[in-house]
Amino acid sequence: MSDKGKIFLGLIVFIVAVTYPMWGGVFAKTPAPDVQLPDGKCIESRDYMVANHMNMLDEWRDKFVREGEEIYIASDGTEHAISLTKTCMKSGCHDNKTEFCDKCHTYADVDPYCWDCHVAPDQVAPKGGN
Ligand code: HEC
Ligand code: HEC
Repeated sequence: MSDKGKIFLGLIVFIVAVTYPMWGGVFAKTPAPDVQLPDGKCIESRDYMVANHMNMLDEWRDKFVREGEEIYIASDGTEHAISLTKTCMKSGCHDNKTEFCDKCHTYADVDPYCWDCHVAPDQVAPKGGN
């Protein structure tokens, strides 16, 4: 790493360290969004999904696209198609991206780029492409 890089990194670490005590307050004061959970059971437990859905989806994408795997075996032994829209977001599950995924992501300030290509059931033909 160049000296400039080191200085920049040091600066970031410093700013984060100095402002850190404020962050807890910011998050504590904002109530967590009230996301709608479907009645049925998700493929893994709620706690597991809240903590791990992002890693799981990244793994799914790699498994499907790079390794050609199409089936996910859940911890209870049930099999599920590896698919963002046909499994996670199928009708009766998380079919409302706006009310479910977006609500929480906006709160958490994350903006997964998945929907540049994937089309959510409640957002047909975004950006006017194909
Ligand atoms: C540049 C376009 C693009 C982006 C961005 C993208 N994908 Fe995909 N994704 C694809 C394509 C193309 C396939 C293959 C579809 C097929 O073969 O049926 C795919 C397949 C998948 C699959 C398996 C098949 C399915 O029906 O879902 C998963 C899971 C997946 N992507 C997850 C993600 C996730 C999670 C993100 C965001 C972190 C993401 N993708 C971002 C283009 C993209
Ligand atoms: C309860 C809150 C919550 C809900 C609901 C939620 N997410 Fe997330 N999601 C998060 C958080 C927080 C992160 C960021 C985690 C991190 O940065 O470590 C995240 C990150 C992600 C990522 C990773 C982005 C990346 O760039 O790797 C994907 C993909 C994702 N979510 C997909 C979804 C999808 C699809 C849905 C709806 C079916 C959804 N999430 C619903 C909280 C949520």
